[in-house]
Formats: sequence, structure tokens, C-alpha cells
Amino acid sequence: MDERKINTWLNNDENQIGYYTSSYDVILIERKRCIKLLADIISYHFPIKENLNILDLGCGDGIITSYLYKQFPQNNYFLLDGSSEMLDKAKERLNIGNISFINQSFEDYIKQICKECEYDFVFSSNAIHHLDYFKKNELYNKIFKELKYDGMFINIDVVLPNSNESEKLQFKMWSNWVNETITNYNLTEQIGKHDELPKRYKSSPENKPSKLVDQLDMLQKIGFRDVDCFFKYSIFAMFGGVK
Ligand SMILES: C[S@@+](CC[C@H](N)C(=O)[O-])C[C@H]1O[C@@H](n2cnc3c(N)ncnc32)[C@H](O)[C@@H]1O
Repeated sequence: MDERKINTWLNNDENQIGYYTSSYDVILIERKRCIKLLADIISYHFPIKENLNILDLGCGDGIITSYLYKQFPQNNYFLLDGSSEMLDKAKERLNIGNISFINQSFEDYIKQICKECEYDFVFSSNAIHHLDYFKKNELYNKIFKELKYDGMFINIDVVLPNSNESEKLQFKMWSNWVNETITNYNLTEQIGKHDELPKRYKSSPENKPSKLVDQLDMLQKIGFRDVDCFFKYSIFAMFGGVK
């Protein structure tokens, strides 16, 4: 099956890109907190924050790397995304040195052999759920291979609830969070725009979330240590491990 037929991101779908980039702080639960936690993890894990090779998988418009860059500028950043439109947005945002942009799908990245690729920190946000369970396993293996010893991988992503009933509850938590955020920040232009979000997410074949427990298990079996979940709220989780 050609992934491009299912995954609208890889086709540069304008509606998808417009909707996402204009509302990610409203539709992704505790988005800003998660980005802050990512920076906290880097701070804790790497005593010397210089000359690190940092890979952002599915970087989108580069907003997360730009946040990390402001805090830790003395590092080499690599941004990979299968959508050329999203990567162009990242290039506009990050028109600075020590940054490399790679227009490649995860599927092609998995297949590519790169002897000189060595990363200290690999992260991804809200992108890997577009791969099914088996492709996730291949991607996590590839990440493990390209991490240096003591390097770390963190994935911020939506995960599959353990049962239908649990999913209903977690979707309700998601809708409540979105509505609270709109009210708390008086985002009148966002009112009513996201009412069908959990339903749309669930029915879209390009979303292939896997259970958190399965992904933690997968990472452990691959050889990651200190595998853990560092944040979870509704279907949104942040997890990873160290090589
Ligand atoms: C929801 S956006 C997240 C962007 C960014 N990481 C963020 O948190 O704002 C998902 C990103 O993953 C990319 N993506 C989705 N499926 C992909 C695939 N199979 N290969 C490479 N990139 C992919 C999309 O092009 C898009 O930029």
C-alpha cells in the first residue's frame, strides 16, 4: 500500500496544514508544558549542552526545535519531515546556522543506511502515530541504531487507550481541555472549530496510534534502558528511553 494515498501530510494537504499550524496550542493537550518538559529532559540528561546532534523527526513547521535552539544554541539540529510544505515553514522559521533539513518520509528514513549518522538526542512530536505498530518498531530500531551510547529518545504522541470505554472517557477529557483552553485564553476565533476533533481523529485512516504499554515494551525489547512515560493526559503521552 502506498502510504501517500493514506497519509495526507505526505501530500502537503493544505487544509490539514492550515488547520494544524493555526491551532496546535489549542488542540494538543498541554502542548507548551510538553515542550518545556522536553527542554527540562535535555537539561537534566546532558550536563554539557554543546555539540550535541539533535534530530527532530516529523518536525512540522519547526516550532519545537526553534524553542530548543533558543535555549541550547551551541548544538547541531537535524529536522526531518515527509511534507515539503511543512519543511519549508521550518526553513523560514529557522533561517540560522548549524541546522540541517531533510525532506524524507519515515518509511524512507527507515530504509536508508547512514554510517555517519550519530545522534545524542532524538525526539518526535505528534508524528509517529502515522505509522502502524510494525513500522513504529522499525523506526524505533533505526533510532536506537543511530543514537550514541547514552543518547536519548523521547516521543511526544497520541497513544491508543486500552479499551473502548477508556477511549470514550479520554476523548471527553480531550474535548474538555480544548474548551477550557478556548475559554481561559478568550480565543473567540477558535470557538466551535474543534467540536468534532476526537471523532475526526478516530475515523481518519492516517492515524494509527498504538498502546502506550506496547510501545514502552517495544523500546525495552529493542534495548533502550530507563524506559518510562514522563507525562500523560488523556491520549497524549510523552515517553522514551536511553541507549
Ligand atoms: C501533527 S504534525 C507535528 C509537527 C511537529 N512535530 C509539531 O509537534 O508541531 C505531524 C508532522 O509529521 C509529518 N509526518 C507525518 N507522517 C510522516 C511520515 N510518514 N514521514 C515523515 N513525516 C511525516 C507531517 O508532515 C507533519 O509535519
